[in-house]
Amino acid sequence: MSSYQITIPSVSYAGEGSTEKLEEILNRENVKNALVFTDKGIRGAGLTKAVEEICSKAGSVTVIDDLTAEPAVSDVERVIGEVGDKPDIIVGVGGGSVMDAAKLASIIVGASYTLRYLLSDSSIASKQVKTVMMPTTCGTGSEATCNAIVSIPEKESKQGIVNNCMIPDYVILDSSMIRRLPPAIIASTGVDALAHCVECLTSNKATPLSDTYALAGAKKIFHNIREAYKNADNMQAKMEMMLGAFYGGVAITGSGTTAVHALSYPLGGKYHIAHGVSNAILFAHVMKFNKDACEDRLADLCDAVYPEHSGKSIGEKADIIIEEIATVVRETEIPTSLEKFGVKPTDIDFLVEAGSQQKRLLVNNCKELSLEDIRFLYKKVL
Ligand SMILES: NC(=O)c1ccc[n+]([C@@H]2O[C@H](COP(=O)([O-])OP(=O)(O)OC[C@H]3O[C@@H](n4cnc5c(N)ncnc54)[C@H](O)[C@@H]3O)[C@@H](O)[C@H]2O)c1
Ligand SMILES: [Zn+2]
Repeated sequence: MSSYQITIPSVSYAGEGSTEKLEEILNRENVKNALVFTDKGIRGAGLTKAVEEICSKAGSVTVIDDLTAEPAVSDVERVIGEVGDKPDIIVGVGGGSVMDAAKLASIIVGASYTLRYLLSDSSIASKQVKTVMMPTTCGTGSEATCNAIVSIPEKESKQGIVNNCMIPDYVILDSSMIRRLPPAIIASTGVDALAHCVECLTSNKATPLSDTYALAGAKKIFHNIREAYKNADNMQAKMEMMLGAFYGGVAITGSGTTAVHALSYPLGGKYHIAHGVSNAILFAHVMKFNKDACEDRLADLCDAVYPEHSGKSIGEKADIIIEEIATVVRETEIPTSLEKFGVKPTDIDFLVEAGSQQKRLLVNNCKELSLEDIRFLYKKVL
């Protein structure tokens, strides 16, 4: 009998205003010295104010806020280099960029290996400092995953460092963190989360455990992304988006993303297209390409999200999901091609080569992709 696994953070809180739960966490962990990772935009928007106050009630607090979005290895090395004494806890307040850096700090501060070493072998990593993750976007699910992604400028691509020890210890999903998140970022990060759910569901690694989270996450996002995008004050839709993103992250721990994310990495690494946007551009095209190998999975998803189509055939249900993915991207005004990002048709050889190197994720794809298939998919979005 085969066995399955998902790994979830020990304690997770969710709800508008749940930032206050940080006090309980610090007491429980007897924290006297907290380190907060964030970025200047998030801190400038006042999103770390309550966190800093709660930490300073418990003892001393250091804030590191000079991280850039979608950081390169050297950016993460620089911020980790700013950490002084080993803290009792690391609190990440931000999007995937900040949370990934905070997770990497939690396995590197005080360890004998370096970040560069982990790029070639992440299996030796172990947790050095416990973490609390507080997402301020509704996409990456990094608050639940065992991954951290860095860009590698010399390879003009991105790479994931993966080890279960990076699963955060505590998570706080406070919808007020995304109250003023610009609609364009709600949309692109929300579609990223949807891609996590749909890719995990159709992945070769999918299991009943990951499916449960992937289906529940996709349902929440399909039903709430338009409202969260259009109506800044709909805090219920925003809470559902945060839960959907978190569930997508949990699904990743038991399954894995596939060709959407694989082909997206060079677009982030070389052209600096935001992670959610590059995934959104590729998403429906990859699912259409994959359809004949995963239409039963897409039909399961259609049954869960749109039960009103229960009488349709498996193929029709799969088409409904693929069309709905394309519609969500269009209606939330995310770009649908690479043209405006300066990617030229002559770049295709580079893209095919770099995309085909993302073997960690390509092996999960339900359909094997030849170089010609990869070329076909990039051509669709050029
Ligand atoms: N670890 C994982 O499992 C995982 C999964 C997917 C993606 N990622 C990585 O995560 C990164 C992308 O993260 P992201 O999409 O969350 O975006 P991000 O963290 O890069 O943030 C995007 C921008 O939004 C701003 N921002 C964030 N929250 C805000 C708020 N509440 N109000 C106003 N502005 C806010 C940030 O300052 C930044 O400028 C990429 O590097 C990607 O590769 C990681
Ligand atoms: Zn992603």
